[in-house]
Amino acid sequence: MSDVVTVRPPRQLRGTIAIPGDKSVTHRAVMFNALARGEARIDGFLDAADTRSTVECMRALGAEVRDLGGGALAIRGTGRGGLHEPDDVLDCGNSGTTMRLLSGVLAGLPMLSVLTGDDSLRRRPMARIVRPLASLGAHITARAEGTLPPIVIQGGPLRGGQTIETPVASAQVKSALLLASLAADGPIRVVQPAQSRDHTERLLEAMGARIEVDGASVTITPPAGDLEAVDVSVPGDISTAAAWIVAACIHPDAELLLTGVGVNETRTGLLDILEAMGADIQRLEERTTGGEPVADLLVRSSTLRGTVVGGDLVPRAIDELPLVALAAAFAEGETVIQDAAELRVKESDRVATTAASLRAFGIDVSEADDGMSVRGGSGLRGGAPLRGAAVESSGDHRLAMLGAVAGLVAEGETAVHGAEAVTVSYPEFWAELARLGATSVAV
Ligand code: S3P
Repeated sequence: MSDVVTVRPPRQLRGTIAIPGDKSVTHRAVMFNALARGEARIDGFLDAADTRSTVECMRALGAEVRDLGGGALAIRGTGRGGLHEPDDVLDCGNSGTTMRLLSGVLAGLPMLSVLTGDDSLRRRPMARIVRPLASLGAHITARAEGTLPPIVIQGGPLRGGQTIETPVASAQVKSALLLASLAADGPIRVVQPAQSRDHTERLLEAMGARIEVDGASVTITPPAGDLEAVDVSVPGDISTAAAWIVAACIHPDAELLLTGVGVNETRTGLLDILEAMGADIQRLEERTTGGEPVADLLVRSSTLRGTVVGGDLVPRAIDELPLVALAAAFAEGETVIQDAAELRVKESDRVATTAASLRAFGIDVSEADDGMSVRGGSGLRGGAPLRGAAVESSGDHRLAMLGAVAGLVAEGETAVHGAEAVTVSYPEFWAELARLGATSVAV
């Protein structure tokens, strides 16, 4: 069943929004503590479909995960040796992070496991983890000649003392290899083409692994015994905040205060891009939560200019690029997003789905193999305003939110089909939008 939400543009966009827990950090806090020895408390975890996939998989492997209420989880890890062979297929749902990170863990555990997921996840590329894990000595294979899920793993001891070069700057691939190193007989060095988000490194180090970072390369020396359980207070997810950040920048009468946003430098590409475009964003109350930098963000209606997004900036903003393309429509001049072929292998082909969605609003977008360009002008004095449209999420949470944010600044009514996709990362999204005065929901 596909839900449809209707969005109408509010005259003003004002308020304070508490940003829910970071998806990447929640996955890691749950998974790594389930491998560790001892009990850990996770505060402010993201309770959404993707992170539930990780919780259920870790339970299926024998870890005890209890919901304490009030946004807290308790995890009792028994050490890697305490986990047992799952008696069924592990269902990763829509979550690439669950599948790829868990494959790294399972490659080193003496048991058979099969990982699968929903229609979208079963189309996503897995050779990027299957090949390097096999080169460490893992018995791992996958459908379509080792390229697509399901993945089958017969785990065991792995060979350390190796350097592995990954062809893509992917935190999921890097993390799979760092986790596999826990079963290796020596250090492992992972060399990426550019730095990707570093939540895995931060947490594994806090749990007792030795991590050395040199630019885009990471060397891990696993601890002699098990990881030690560590309490984590999860920062707000900047990828979730991104919808509101862009909404406030492009709405003509907006001021939003977004509280508790994680501003880890490996994730703040969106802020750098928008600042280069001239956006009015202030970082307030900068602090540290759970080993991660956090700030409140005050975002106001902005006058934007076009920019070029490419190179090392791309992995630091990868999940936010569809929203950058929308912001670009409100800028003076053209914006080019390049070096972003990874967009094509996310929960949907986000070059194609973003371009289709923005075109429905009347935005002039052209696609390239590795990105897109957007002609600015909408919403500027004399520019053609966006027209409300009927858009499809394509089962992709980020596309559902993109359609809604565009609807906040489009004339007339916008219908977002497949609205339920937001449950993957932000189940409260439609309720927040309604609170801001912009939706009526029809199912
Ligand atoms: C994630 C890494 C990114 C990102 C995804 C979450 C993670 O994927 O797009 O939403 O938690 O490690 P890649 O590592 O494939 O770039």
